[in-house]
Amino acid sequence: MSHFINLKDIPAKDLRKILVNAKKRKTKRKKLSTLEIDQDAPLKGKLLVQMFEKSSLRTRLSFYLAIKQLGGGTLTLRSNELHLGEGGETLEDTAKILSTYGDGFMLRTDSDQKIRDFKNYLSIPIINGLSPSSHPTQVLSDIFTIEEIKKKSISKLNITWIGDSNNVLNSLIAASVKFNFRLNIGCPKKYGPKKFILNWVKTNNKKIFIFNDAKKAVVNADVIFSDKVISLNDKVNKKKKLSQFKNFKITSELMKYAKKDCIFLHCLPRGTEVEEKVFFSKQSKVWQQALNRVHVQKSILLYCFEKLR
Ligand code: CP
Ligand code: NVA
Repeated sequence: MSHFINLKDIPAKDLRKILVNAKKRKTKRKKLSTLEIDQDAPLKGKLLVQMFEKSSLRTRLSFYLAIKQLGGGTLTLRSNELHLGEGGETLEDTAKILSTYGDGFMLRTDSDQKIRDFKNYLSIPIINGLSPSSHPTQVLSDIFTIEEIKKKSISKLNITWIGDSNNVLNSLIAASVKFNFRLNIGCPKKYGPKKFILNWVKTNNKKIFIFNDAKKAVVNADVIFSDKVISLNDKVNKKKKLSQFKNFKITSELMKYAKKDCIFLHCLPRGTEVEEKVFFSKQSKVWQQALNRVHVQKSILLYCFEKLR
């Protein structure tokens, strides 16, 4: 079995294998409806337990459909309904029970340490469904969406991120190393990526480009990404942070500085960082992006269950 916790720890060839498999599976089930099971039903009889410590719409639905279409099923838990935490049950005991009843565990959490702890005690694979430091299933799926739309390898494209240095950007940075694409980041000076992340990039002989001017960051971009300035449970002065990002809004004016056929992506939910005019424009591919989570997560599940061919 394999865990899926951070893109930076997964070999590039495995990430590519996941994308290739997702493409094949997506094409094959074109005529099937939502709940119909893929012909080979590779995860028949398997149970994926999902646990959310933070809100979710897309991750919850896409994992539900992903395991279902592979022939398995899911059960969704909220951590405040378990004994773990308030009832005093240890994480180790919880992990052992999850491993006894379930076949895989997807966790969205406030704590990266909690994912590491679960990993140590589980005997089934764990998938990171968003943590403070990364959102790997989202970003791998976004690479799929970009290649699907642009019909070329992401290594030949210029990707720009406009926004906060948050979990999604951390995973995008890891992806830029694994898939070797150009990554520009546009953000206010004090909101750049953390030093240890930049050091990791350097250690991997990669360069990313940081601009404190949104217009400069989007020049030549094939793809512009953004995300909420205030992430879930971001404990900051929200008003102040939002005002510091006022020059980093995706407007139709800003889009003009990018390539003509530049697309706009956003993992959702959105805040005020993108103008409605851009969000609902032809260049915006956010709905296709959201739905592709199902297809890529199916192949992530197969990777975790060692069934990727
Ligand atoms: N993009 C994403 O992870 O959405 P949810 O928070 O709704 O799961
Ligand atoms: N950066 C956002 C992503 C939400 C899917 C957050 O952590 O809230």
